[in-house]
Amino acid sequence: MRLDVVTIFPEYLEPLNVSLVGKARARGQLDVRVHDLRNWTHDKHNTVDDTPYGGGPGMVMKPEPWGEALDEIIASGQGDERPVLVVPTPSGRPFTQELAVELSGKPWLVFTPARYEGIDRRVIEEYGERFDVREVSIGDYVLAGGEAPVLVMVEAIARLLPGVLGNAESHRDDSFAPGAMADLLEGPVYTKPPEWRGRGIPEVLLSGHHGRIARWRRDEAFKRTDRNRPDLIERADPASFDKKDREMLSILGWAPGPDGRFGRTAPAVEE
Ligand SMILES: C[S@@+](CC[C@H](N)C(=O)[O-])C[C@H]1O[C@@H](n2cnc3c(N)ncnc32)[C@H](O)[C@@H]1O
Repeated sequence: MRLDVVTIFPEYLEPLNVSLVGKARARGQLDVRVHDLRNWTHDKHNTVDDTPYGGGPGMVMKPEPWGEALDEIIASGQGDERPVLVVPTPSGRPFTQELAVELSGKPWLVFTPARYEGIDRRVIEEYGERFDVREVSIGDYVLAGGEAPVLVMVEAIARLLPGVLGNAESHRDDSFAPGAMADLLEGPVYTKPPEWRGRGIPEVLLSGHHGRIARWRRDEAFKRTDRNRPDLIERADPASFDKKDREMLSILGWAPGPDGRFGRTAPAVEE
């Protein structure tokens, strides 16, 4: 997979040399190219921003450097390769595990982290007419720039690429993993020693009984989701719940409504 990042702070992307993403780069699974947007400016101050039309505080990123940078990067593709443009912005659609999975299947992503009040709208319109452009938010808060969101998205996407995680199975049981975990949070996890500061671990995990362990993990996932993200249970497709799931939901105070979707009938159980 090829990833291009255009930024005025290339050094902010240094963490892409570390850990899982760094190793994937070293192995040649990820071709990451970080570009300094100021290379596409032509004045002596390398200006990338200007005052907003209509007035108001803050500055807006000028369209010309972005246009030149994107044209050159896109033209560097081989044959008729076309990138997906990922535009971090708090006003975008939420970045979810589902989107991470979708983007992990694309051969080429170009990220455009902005600063100031964002990029002149015409850039998004211009490329949106010819390319798959995704405006994406990593959460309901505003950061000073899009570089941290790019680090977040690249890590979430890269760990899904075949051969990047040591154990290919490990992301299948993650919170939000497509399939049985799509609308569930993963429950607690434990490792050795079996007793630490007087605290043991749930007996079932020592039983060696795979069926019982899987059931316990799923029940714990329901408990945690009930407590921390009840909105996930409300939106879940009830067809994804088996008989035991429904029993657990009932214990936690949930019941199906007329449309089959589950709603809470009692206050959440505290830990
Ligand atoms: C200060 S923010 C601009 C916020 C913009 N004025 C607004 O209210 O929507 C500057 C840049 O940081 C990035 N950014 C900030 N918060 C973000 C978020 N939650 N998700 C993705 N990108 C974000 C984007 O690249 C954004 O253009």
